[in-house]
Amino acid sequence: MDSLDRNRLRVMAVLGYSLMLLLGAACDEDEAAMGTSADMGQRAGNGGDRERESEDTEEAADRYYVGAASMALGAATNEADCALCHSVDGSQEGLSGKSFKDIAYKESWKGGDASTLLDASNACVTGWMGGEALADDDEEWKSLEAYLKSISDEDASEANVIMPEVLADEAAYEDAYAGGDAEAGEAKYDLYCGACHSEQLTVGVAPAWAFEAIAARSIGRIAQKVRTAGPPPSGSEEDSDTTGGPMPFFEPSDLSADDLSDIIAYIKRDS
Ligand code: HEC
Ligand code: HEC
Repeated sequence: MDSLDRNRLRVMAVLGYSLMLLLGAACDEDEAAMGTSADMGQRAGNGGDRERESEDTEEAADRYYVGAASMALGAATNEADCALCHSVDGSQEGLSGKSFKDIAYKESWKGGDASTLLDASNACVTGWMGGEALADDDEEWKSLEAYLKSISDEDASEANVIMPEVLADEAAYEDAYAGGDAEAGEAKYDLYCGACHSEQLTVGVAPAWAFEAIAARSIGRIAQKVRTAGPPPSGSEEDSDTTGGPMPFFEPSDLSADDLSDIIAYIKRDS
């Protein structure tokens, strides 16, 4: 590389950095209103501003975790964003998916089925959300990946255990989940099921069933659905359709057996 090239690179690097600062300032209304080039020059040397810049980057990335941009990764009808099923603070209360905190550097995902974070995320984008798989170099993926990395500890590499409870048939689920406490189940239903079922939110292409439609199902069938995501069905109300639908499954570590029994007793209280 000759010295002309090197100079050109240096100029481009400086230009690029100034552009970043300008964009940063444009996002910040107060600063933009009074922004002179002298103010902007000062931003470069100021640690506090650098911190704010990285917060801005995180906010932009977090758009693909929560809200409309995240929902748009799925089918045109999809109303589920990642936040519907995954927290970012390490908690899992009420949610079917593992927390995104520390998710980025696992040695594998999905119980060994996915060897990259992209593959694991795509399983949710194409599966539950009904969208097209993201590619490595898509802007949406780059933002989402940067965000997931920003909230993850590089040393947290041990894979999450994923263990859905699969019993022989509907009758076996009925035996396991009959006899819960309906009164205790109401608040638990709101916490675990309400986010989707109270508004009949569309996950991928299928709306979550109305309460009365769920209540018409047997105890065994409700439990089987919650534990395995299917069968049945793929959003249709056909008894004969036994493909798994876009409703996510809850493992016993996400939702205890007692809590699920109580929820089902609440759903079936008038039957
Ligand atoms: C409708 C619920 C739902 C939505 C929406 C959803 N996921 Fe998931 N996700 C799950 C479930 C269920 C699992 C598997 C079990 C678990 O993580 O406990 C999972 C697993 C994952 C895993 C693997 C976790 C592990 O440790 O193996 C990643 C990564 C992931 N999802 C990323 C995403 C991303 C990124 C989005 C948004 C673009 C998203 N998910 C949207 C429900 C969902
Ligand atoms: C992330 C959203 C979401 C959550 C949370 C959720 N569901 Fe669903 N559920 C759906 C969607 C969407 C459908 C329709 C598509 C399908 O069958 O997968 C559905 C369908 C069902 C069905 C009908 C299955 C059948 O018999 O054909 C039952 C029963 C059910 N849900 C029970 C529950 C219970 C109980 C909970 C709480 C423990 C729950 N769901 C939590 C989205 C959700």
